[in-house]
Amino acid sequence: MRIAISTGGGDAPGLNAVIRAAVLSAIARGWTVLGIKRGYMGLLGEDEVVPLTRDVVRGIQHLGGTILRTTNRGNPFCYPTRQPDGTIVEVDRSDELIENARNLGIQAIISIGGDGSLAIGQKLFEKGVRLVGVPKTIDNDVSGTVTTFGFDTAVSTALEAIDKLHTTAESHDRVMILEVMGRHTGFIALHSGFAGAADVILIPEIPYDLDSICKVVSDRDRSGKKYTMIVVAEGAFPEGGVTSILGASLPGQAPRVGGVSAQLAREIQERTGKETRSMVLGHLQRGGMPTGYDRLLATRFGGAAIRAIADGRWGHMVALQTPNIVTIPITEALRETKRVDPNHDIVLTARATGISFGQPIRKGGAT
Ligand code: F6P
Repeated sequence: MRIAISTGGGDAPGLNAVIRAAVLSAIARGWTVLGIKRGYMGLLGEDEVVPLTRDVVRGIQHLGGTILRTTNRGNPFCYPTRQPDGTIVEVDRSDELIENARNLGIQAIISIGGDGSLAIGQKLFEKGVRLVGVPKTIDNDVSGTVTTFGFDTAVSTALEAIDKLHTTAESHDRVMILEVMGRHTGFIALHSGFAGAADVILIPEIPYDLDSICKVVSDRDRSGKKYTMIVVAEGAFPEGGVTSILGASLPGQAPRVGGVSAQLAREIQERTGKETRSMVLGHLQRGGMPTGYDRLLATRFGGAAIRAIADGRWGHMVALQTPNIVTIPITEALRETKRVDPNHDIVLTARATGISFGQPIRKGGAT
């Protein structure tokens, strides 16, 4: 058996641990493994396809990033291609990819990625490619799995930032706003803000009301707590408003979400008169060593992907359904984006312990 591994989309801590576990498990069965560089670019003549041996994956379990590199601009079904006149058009290069994979003797592919890569994987599967998915994203927005690897590391990074910002906010009597990643979901903001005892957490699943946020700041001020710590998900938006988008992205890329914290800082300072600062944590959340939890999950996923191939679970994705790793059809994971349930126990306990979600103040109700 000869299989190949691809890592696609934004990177996430734990990718190397998946690769290592998959390679070692495959070698243990007597299979050979190839690595497709930069998403599927290695199969489109834009990068390499390399052998993944025991030596290549030695000592990489704890490393962030991916030894295979990755891209979020390489969808083979609509590949951005420059024309002689300089314009860029999207070209379907999936047949070429499949042909090249066949020529290399690749009999199955493990596609490690988030919703975008899983959607590409599903389409390849529908064209006859024997493919198994492994869910990855720091955003934790893939359905069908309790969590994705990379999320725990991102939460830890955000938590460390919150702890540090808390002390400087308190020293200066400031409102401090930390913007964290998550695209259109608020898992990183919710988990890090909750664990870091933020005063306000803003997530896309609960549109916010500026007056309520300012009231929290002013009430705290009056009660002697002169600082306020706010954690905002990059995709959060005001009631009746829209997600803030950062400039144009490159051809083939999804629009870049972000900028909400700077906007909020201006508005809060203007309305409350409190000195307000914002910071965007950005790609720090995607970098660095995976936490123990993420290493463990990623390694379990890698091993499970090889078992899924051995069992012929084509078009399936490995998933954590605590306490087990299972496989589910990729279509099930793609049915909807996983989002924070506003009635989840974390949200309820956060509210009960005094954290505001910036919701309008309704009589007798929490914010
Ligand atoms: O999906 C992962 C993610 O890190 C999002 O949280 C974020 O909005 C996006 O990717 C950033 O993408 P890029 O690396 O293209 O800036």
